[in-house]
Amino acid sequence: MVPSAVRVGLLGLGTVGQGVVQVLERNRADIERKVGRGIEIVRALVRDPSKPRPEGLPAERITGNVEEILGDPEVRIVVEVMGGTGPAREYILRALRSGKSVVTANKDIMAEHGAEVWAAAAAGGADVFFEASVGGGIPIVRAMKQSLAGNCVRRVAGILNGTTNYILTRMSREGLSLAAALAEAQAQGYAEADPSADLDGLDAARKLCILSSIAYSTRCRPAEVFRQGIRDIGPADIAYGARMGWICKLLGISELRKGAVSMRVHPAFVRREHPLAAVSDAFNAIYIQGDAIGEAMFYGRGAGSLPTASAILGDLMDAARFIDRGGSGTACTCFHQRPVEDIGAVISRFYIRLHVDDRVGVLAQIADAFGRCDVSILSVLQSPLSPGEALTGESGEGERAELIVVTHEVREDSLERAIAGLRRLASVRGVGAVIRLAPEDL
Ligand code: NAP
Ligand code: HSE
Repeated sequence: MVPSAVRVGLLGLGTVGQGVVQVLERNRADIERKVGRGIEIVRALVRDPSKPRPEGLPAERITGNVEEILGDPEVRIVVEVMGGTGPAREYILRALRSGKSVVTANKDIMAEHGAEVWAAAAAGGADVFFEASVGGGIPIVRAMKQSLAGNCVRRVAGILNGTTNYILTRMSREGLSLAAALAEAQAQGYAEADPSADLDGLDAARKLCILSSIAYSTRCRPAEVFRQGIRDIGPADIAYGARMGWICKLLGISELRKGAVSMRVHPAFVRREHPLAAVSDAFNAIYIQGDAIGEAMFYGRGAGSLPTASAILGDLMDAARFIDRGGSGTACTCFHQRPVEDIGAVISRFYIRLHVDDRVGVLAQIADAFGRCDVSILSVLQSPLSPGEALTGESGEGERAELIVVTHEVREDSLERAIAGLRRLASVRGVGAVIRLAPEDL
């Protein structure tokens, strides 16, 4: 006997929600054959039901009343694509506790409140799927939870934010300023009106936490991620990097070292030949290093209506397969309580751009400031500075030069002390971008 169609409630009918409706309609016949039963979106919750919507779901299925989904025992699966941690969190918890499986694209909730979500799923005997919360359409969550689960993962590194990758690509290719590239990203619909979560690395930090929690079987929280965004990066940095054979990317990197987890999101120069350097525009890529697999890279569209819907549909199909079989058996795997390594102990090579007085003895003062903090210099490049090329806060008169200092590998805390020492020198007029070089073994 063919089981009856599984009834689904959609929380949100925006960019991703519309994509889910579109892909389900387009590929319905094959999707239902693969699952072995029908899938029916019976209600979609929106903030404003009177808003005109593209064709897709019949108007009578669109509601402003969440009870028509959460209060309906016939709705077995809830797809949360409304976003934010406000009501969405409560709706997810309620759904799970009442035995409805949940599919979500919400990285904010999974990163900040993952433990609570898994506990609610266990309490209700329900499944929670969250493939779309990291990397849009890239199948990375399931790959890590299942296909790579036999590995001891040593490192997760990648380009986890499409907006900043688009901005850095435009700055690299066209020499645009950050402000001009951001305006383009907004016009293309990648960046939101308030792009802070993207520019300041918070979006990438949340995604890194989700992947790191799976990779190292320990709860990783966004507040534990060292975070530096891209706001200080200028066209000059991109151009200097290019001269040295490097491409600038916002990387999320987490590593397991001596039982502790190290997590950081920051701009980094990647060698031009590295596969991550070729990841352009709004694409994402995630690089996994495990003891058995060695290295594996996952690449694809990290956002957008249809790519994200692709991930949601895969999850929805799994939820539908398991809903009458007592669930998929997938549970929280954060059974370790690993310490988090302080950023000060992380070792990197650094690129530092300085504006200094162009006179005798200045280079020696700068070398001394680095040397006092055990920071060994690999190279120094000096260029004359045109009038008007000031760094933020730079003031004073006289001839200036721009110095690009590249260090050998140093501890983060040593570099931080060296920068503080440089700022105290009267001859150092401004410290521009400080950019790490990607690990040599990446
Ligand atoms: P969106 O376009 O802003 O759509 C949000 C939808 O949720 C809208 O239909 C909105 O109703 C509804 N909604 C929001 N708050 C509500 C509330 N309090 N009560 C009832 N309905 C509410 O957002 P989106 O871009 O589709 O993103 C949805 C989720 O997917 C977010 O968690 C996001 O981080 C994640 N995600 C998005 C992408 C992407 O490319 N967009 C990629 C990966 C993950 P109205 O239509 O009436 O305003
Ligand atoms: N704002 C995100 C990005 C998309 O630019 O990658 C949603 O995850």
